Amino acid sequence: MTTPETAGAPAFDARTFRHVVGHLPSGVTLVTTRTPDGDHGMTASSVTSLSLDPPMMLACLNRSSSTSMAVSAAGAYAVNVLGQGHEHLAQQFAAPSRDKFAGVRVTEGVLGLPLLADALARIECTVVEEVHAATHTIFLGRVVDAKADEGSPLTYFRGGFGRFEFARDDAVYQRARQQVLERMYAADAVLQLDDLAYQLEVERPAAFYALTRLTADGLVRRDPDRGYVVVPFDSRTSDETFDARCAIELGVLDMVVGRVPPDELTELSSRFATMAALLVGDRFVDFDRYLDANYAFHEGLVSLAHNQSLTAAFGRLSIKTVMTRSFGVTPVTSQDFIDAQRQITEGVGRGDLATARGGVLRYTELAKQRVRQILAQTGGRL
Ligand SMILES: Cc1cc2nc3c(=O)[nH]c(=O)nc-3n(C[C@H](O)[C@H](O)[C@H](O)COP(=O)(O)O)c2cc1C
Repeated sequence: MTTPETAGAPAFDARTFRHVVGHLPSGVTLVTTRTPDGDHGMTASSVTSLSLDPPMMLACLNRSSSTSMAVSAAGAYAVNVLGQGHEHLAQQFAAPSRDKFAGVRVTEGVLGLPLLADALARIECTVVEEVHAATHTIFLGRVVDAKADEGSPLTYFRGGFGRFEFARDDAVYQRARQQVLERMYAADAVLQLDDLAYQLEVERPAAFYALTRLTADGLVRRDPDRGYVVVPFDSRTSDETFDARCAIELGVLDMVVGRVPPDELTELSSRFATMAALLVGDRFVDFDRYLDANYAFHEGLVSLAHNQSLTAAFGRLSIKTVMTRSFGVTPVTSQDFIDAQRQITEGVGRGDLATARGGVLRYTELAKQRVRQILAQTGGRL
């Protein structure tokens, strides 16, 4: 019989394993403890609840970490669940340092352990068993005290920190966005949190989440005196944005056409194909995905110049906001857009500057005209 430690070599290497397990998303915690030497703590994501009755947790800590040794010596540990915006703490506690707790607000728990005052949740445990497996020790802990506060957690996925989002909150945001786009609220109107919650028939946190996302979209802005205000939109705003993109893209084409390496041409064609597939006939298959794909195509075009200033200027254009506010209002569009973008892609592919430039100018005119049509249909203001 084989045990995990005597089994033969796996059919994949450590890098592959790290990459694959990185697809399992997790929360992020600080495991903390106190010994006569002082306070100890480390960032840990391999922490989970084990049983409800009795209440138990487990934490998998690398035996070589100083915190693991300290937990073993103290016979107790606390799990501090990190909240959104705590990336700096996760980083601070993931690197060896003599004073990891510098600048951290700490309180003392019932077991005398250091607890992170601003954590989303704090769970104190006494160690009931230590299981050694490979490089780690699994500390089985009996929960002595547990407290949670309101807030969103910090998450970890494929080596990066992120945010958690309830699927139901996303649906509320989508509804709120549709209402703003369909001009259910007048331009420059104040959106009160309670009114929006009532209107959408949801709790305040979900309405607040929607407002935050609408603000990030540029559909709503936070006015220091008036609160959340619906951002007005007109054809001058969209014309300026499309003209600015046009100027950047024409400049990029002048710089690169005839000199684009084959792998970058393939990438541009593939971005074009992804975008084209999301527009069937004269309808968007899924506007949000189309918007992302359209953005990726134009960003890909600009990045052919390998010029960070140009890429950053393109990123500042609020293209997505302008497109959401205009094209996002109706599922109807036109294959003419794809034809113009195909012309750009083919022109770049053949090293034919005049064709590629013509495509950019045509696309820009089409976009400006289409916004005018949509504005006319919706009464001039969105
Ligand atoms: C997001 C994240 C999660 C981590 N999870 C664990 C874990 O579950 N177990 C572990 O042993 N190390 C984990 N680490 C690594 C430790 O935090 C790191 O080795 C730390 O420096 C150990 O500190 P110490 O030796 O001072 O105790 C994680 C690091 C990061 C950034």
